[in-house]
Amino acid sequence: MKTLTPERSLLDAIEIASIDEIRGLQLERMQWSLRHAYDNVPFYRKSFDEKGVHPDDLKSLADLSKFPFTLKDDLRANYPFGMFAVPREQIVRIHASSGTTGKPTVVGYTQKDIDMWANMVARSLRASGTRAGDMVHVAYGYGLFTGGLGAHYGAERLGCTVVPVSGGMTERQVTLIEDFKPSTIMVTPSYMLNILEQYQRAGIDPRESSLDVGVFGAEPWTNAMREEVETAFDMHAVDIYGLSEVLGPGVANECVETKDGLHVWEDHFYPEIIDPETGDVLADGEKGELVFTTLTKEGLPMIRYRTRDLTRLMPGTARTLRRMEKVTGRSDDMIILRGVNLFPTQVEEQVLAAPALAPYFQIELTNEGRMDSMTVNVEATSDAADADARTAAGQALQARIKDVIGVTAQVTVGEPGAVERSQGKARRVVDRRMPLS
Ligand code: DLL
Repeated sequence: MKTLTPERSLLDAIEIASIDEIRGLQLERMQWSLRHAYDNVPFYRKSFDEKGVHPDDLKSLADLSKFPFTLKDDLRANYPFGMFAVPREQIVRIHASSGTTGKPTVVGYTQKDIDMWANMVARSLRASGTRAGDMVHVAYGYGLFTGGLGAHYGAERLGCTVVPVSGGMTERQVTLIEDFKPSTIMVTPSYMLNILEQYQRAGIDPRESSLDVGVFGAEPWTNAMREEVETAFDMHAVDIYGLSEVLGPGVANECVETKDGLHVWEDHFYPEIIDPETGDVLADGEKGELVFTTLTKEGLPMIRYRTRDLTRLMPGTARTLRRMEKVTGRSDDMIILRGVNLFPTQVEEQVLAAPALAPYFQIELTNEGRMDSMTVNVEATSDAADADARTAAGQALQARIKDVIGVTAQVTVGEPGAVERSQGKARRVVDRRMPLS
């Protein structure tokens, strides 16, 4: 793998500023953002008033804890444009996340927001090891999803040649990578596995591809997955995090030289970790729910937005800006099986550790009366073709899930290709549980 550490002279000054300088800038910007939200969004005025707080009450960053949280439901209740803090004419772009139930969540950006977003994705790409002049293959979906266009504008901003492929048509993805020879790919990690499979099907050695770095996000993925992709392609696999309500991709990103968690671009997004039950702010280092307050956004300021993502904050390393631990689960994705809490990423680790199994899986939940059961559907690699090898692989996985995660799961090992392939965000859990009557 190539050494891709960016020279310090390329970084934004704030990435390596002193902590005092960063906190000073955050306080100034937070005061502006609270006032902007209060003055221009009836929802915030009402929620602040109800809690008896006013933007003037924020004298220090710690005072933020006095302000109310914002939830996804608040965006839904103000559908479509009720959370915007500027007249609709000043919104130059809309995105929306479909969500699994009900109305989509709509987000809007002013031209200044789009500019800041491009800068943050450019910063993320630079942290990943991409440089001006590199070619970037964007396989995140284009459209209402923030992935494609967010990645696109950032790569252009950095000065790259952008190939806006979007998701799907996997054969064509491989042809374009082979013909155009991009050095960077931006895609969900689960779809990258799909691309890997197409390489194998086409008989092309992925280690010979032009790719030096993959910037993977939009869904949880493990260090086991990192190893799988890095080895298969002889490339760096770097984590990018973000969410539509706060920005889209580019809220936090790993640095290629350390890969030790994601530096939060906290000059624009102020992170807190809270206890999801009590709402109390936890100290850095403690694990809980990630909450963001936007510091500069005009179109859609977000005050204490509860992401549902579980992580912890850690001091900066490659940059002064704090890091968040890789997000391995959202509170919404947590499966509670007969009293044991688990996340699909824990299953991912075990599937990837099994040499006879391909790196694809789907969890199926069913119930009989009050008794829930979990089936992990996996598939054999083409090397593990005979029935005995498959049975052994299935039993071994079942034993590992029991030993390491602590739950009893059924395992079905299908033919190669049996598990649904992802075109974007993978669907890890299929819940077939019937409501109890
Ligand atoms: O997924 C934005 C994005 C696009 C991020 C491309 C990175 C790359 P949403 O569709 O609003 O936005 O989904 C946001 O996805 O709250 C997390 O639960 C999850 N997520 C995003 N990035 C990561 C990551 C985009 N790197 C939700 N690791 C978030 C784990 C992630 N989960």
